[in-house]
Amino acid sequence: MAYVFFILFMLIRVHAWFKKEEMMKRLIAGNWKMNGTMSAAIKLAQGIVEAIQNDSKVLENNDFLVCPPFHHIVPVQAELSMAVSLGAQDCSPYEVGAYTGDVSAAMLKDVNCDYVILGHSERREYYVESNDLIRQKAAIAHENGLIAIICVGETEAQREAGEEQEVVGKQLAESLPEGATAQNTVIAYEPVWAIGTGKTATTDDIAAMHDFIRGQLKAKIDNADTLRILYGGSVKPSNAAEIFAVDNVNGALIGGASLKPEDFIGIATAG
Ligand code: PGA
Repeated sequence: MAYVFFILFMLIRVHAWFKKEEMMKRLIAGNWKMNGTMSAAIKLAQGIVEAIQNDSKVLENNDFLVCPPFHHIVPVQAELSMAVSLGAQDCSPYEVGAYTGDVSAAMLKDVNCDYVILGHSERREYYVESNDLIRQKAAIAHENGLIAIICVGETEAQREAGEEQEVVGKQLAESLPEGATAQNTVIAYEPVWAIGTGKTATTDDIAAMHDFIRGQLKAKIDNADTLRILYGGSVKPSNAAEIFAVDNVNGALIGGASLKPEDFIGIATAG
C-alpha cells in the first residue's frame, strides 16, 4: 500500500514539475513614451538594473523590457544588464530609403532591439494609424527578427456601446500579419480609456477580453496558448497582483509607472 502511495506521490511531483517548466514567464514591459532627457533615461535604466539586482528572485517569474525614445536606445542599452531587453515604440513600414523621420526595423535590430511596440492607441489616435499600416509595420518587424507587440483596445464610447469585442476582434484580424507566431508576436490589450487616466478595467472585464483574444489567436496561430497577452492601462504596484491573477494575463505594458524604477520593478514583485 505504502508503495502505491509513493508512486502516486512521485507522479504528482513529476506532473507539477512539468507544469512549472511549461509556465511562461510574465513580460513586464515599460513604454517610456516621449519623456525625459538623456541623463534621466540613463538614470532610469541604472535604477531598474539596481532594483533587479537587489531582488534577483524577481527574474524567476518575469522577463523585463524597456522601450525608450529612439535616440535613448543606444545609451540606455549600455546600462542594461542581460536581464532587461530593449525595444522601440514604433518603426517604419518601409525597409530603407527616402522616408524622412522614419526609423526602420532593420535599424532597430542593428542596435540590438528585440521588440517593437506597434499600433499603440496614441499612434492610432494622433497619427491616424490604421490596422493595415500596423500590419505592414509588424510584417517588416518580423522580417527583421523583431518581436512585435501589437496593441489593441476599445475607446470608452465603444465599451459603453457594448462593441469592445467587435472592435478588438477587427483590430486583431486586420493588424496581425501573415507569419505571426507565438514567438514573434505579443498582444497588448489596452482599453484606451484606462491609459494614463488612473482608471483600470475590472478584473472581470480583463478576464473576458483576454479570454476572447486568446480564442481569436487560437483560430489563427499555432501554439497560441504560449503567445503572451499583456494588459495595459494604469498598471501600478497597488493593482498588479489582482491583474496578474487573471487568466490569460501574461504580463503588462506600463506607461507612467515604468518611469520610476521602484514602481516598475514593484509591479513585478507585487504579483
Ligand atoms: P499607462 O500607459 O500605464 O500610463 O496607463 C500604458 C500605455 O500607454 O502603454
